[in-house]
Amino acid sequence: MSLRSLPIHHALKGEITPPGDKSISHRSVMFGAIAEGETYVHRWLDAADTRATLNACRALGAQIETLDVNGGTDLRIQGVGMQGLQPSAEFTAKGEPLDLGNSGTGVRLLMGLLAALPFTSRLSGDHSLCARPMGRVIRPLEQMGAELESNDGRLPVTVHGKSLSAIHYESPIASAQVKSAVLLAGLNAAGTTKVSEPALSRDHTERMLQDFGVHIKRDGLTVAVEGGQSLRACELTVPADISSAAFFMVAASVVPGSEITIRNVGLNQTRRGLLDVLQLMGADIEVNTVGQGAEPIADLTVRHRQLRGIDVPPELVVSMIDEFPILMVAAALAEGRTRISGAEELRVKESDRLAVMCKGLSALGVTLEETPDGAIIQGVAGQRVIRGGAVEAADDHRCAMSFAVLATCAQAPIEIAGSEFIATSYPAFQSHFCALGGQLESL
Ligand code: S3P
Repeated sequence: MSLRSLPIHHALKGEITPPGDKSISHRSVMFGAIAEGETYVHRWLDAADTRATLNACRALGAQIETLDVNGGTDLRIQGVGMQGLQPSAEFTAKGEPLDLGNSGTGVRLLMGLLAALPFTSRLSGDHSLCARPMGRVIRPLEQMGAELESNDGRLPVTVHGKSLSAIHYESPIASAQVKSAVLLAGLNAAGTTKVSEPALSRDHTERMLQDFGVHIKRDGLTVAVEGGQSLRACELTVPADISSAAFFMVAASVVPGSEITIRNVGLNQTRRGLLDVLQLMGADIEVNTVGQGAEPIADLTVRHRQLRGIDVPPELVVSMIDEFPILMVAAALAEGRTRISGAEELRVKESDRLAVMCKGLSALGVTLEETPDGAIIQGVAGQRVIRGGAVEAADDHRCAMSFAVLATCAQAPIEIAGSEFIATSYPAFQSHFCALGGQLESL
């Protein structure tokens, strides 16, 4: 499917509440499934990725009801307890692998969960997920005693559940998916499992496990969990996803005269890197804190202001790892040069995001240099010099939404091929974009 995003010559105005946070939504359904009792989740993200995790949890025996509440989705989950997970008879009869679609979080966290459970399961996904590295999760799980067969470090993966022993895993990369998979396996391992990482990746697993009554110990960049703990059902509210808010934070910053409010955005310290970087670029973003529960929440009011290019501080890369496609759009429209480095992980996301964004931006007239771990982008200083034309989002939701934002400031419409994957994280993107004054058409 393609989308056509049109240049606009008026301000963006209004307010939106982006959908629930994707990382938190995945975890809420998985943890609810392995908890004892009934978990209730408010404002769950109902999108293709999180549906894949929900369906996998159903196939493993959890009863999950989706409820339509005020135009959003809530979940009521009858948890079966950690040892209660079992592939359902109906699922086993089909003989197919659990299909996690496009979702790296879904498949990697499930591997950790399933590694210690006493049955064999197979996991797979779509063509993009099947091309992504799984060795980063398989290696530590094998060190714990797990038995996994993979297609040379890729999906499909067969998990033969085994008794596991705790390890201290020193992860070579700052990855919340790796950390979470090891911690979930650790919940079922003998002893205390520890994970250290080179920088703090998103910590939703640690926070949410505590909501479910699990005792977690943090010491700097090391987190520890003792095996044998069970999860107690709870009630959760999912904040709006800062990774979805990101597109509108940039859109309102770059379209002259704009002023929008984005409500209920999760501002966890491990996720707010884009906000900090946009402020370093001179953005006018007012932050009004509205909640301080397990996850901090704020309303963001964003007004147009000409952005300046900067050297993105490498220490902020992890806390904005999913926001680089839209940051590259902000950089293309800024005044001066933006330098991104230390972001080689972008090459193994839903697409090679450095390659896809650099190719699309330069085809539309942006001067840039792609480097192995980033890019150097020469901004056009708000001049309407970006050409229209066709770009390829390479089936990557975040690249597609980023090009849609770029078009608002282009000379002519931009046609974005491979846009159907927007449904993996933000099914309401087109309607929110248009409600604020953008013009985005399905082709
Ligand atoms: C996620 C972690 C990040 C992020 C992904 C979601 C998570 O991946 O890019 O979109 O929910 O744990 P890595 O763990 O590979 O950094």
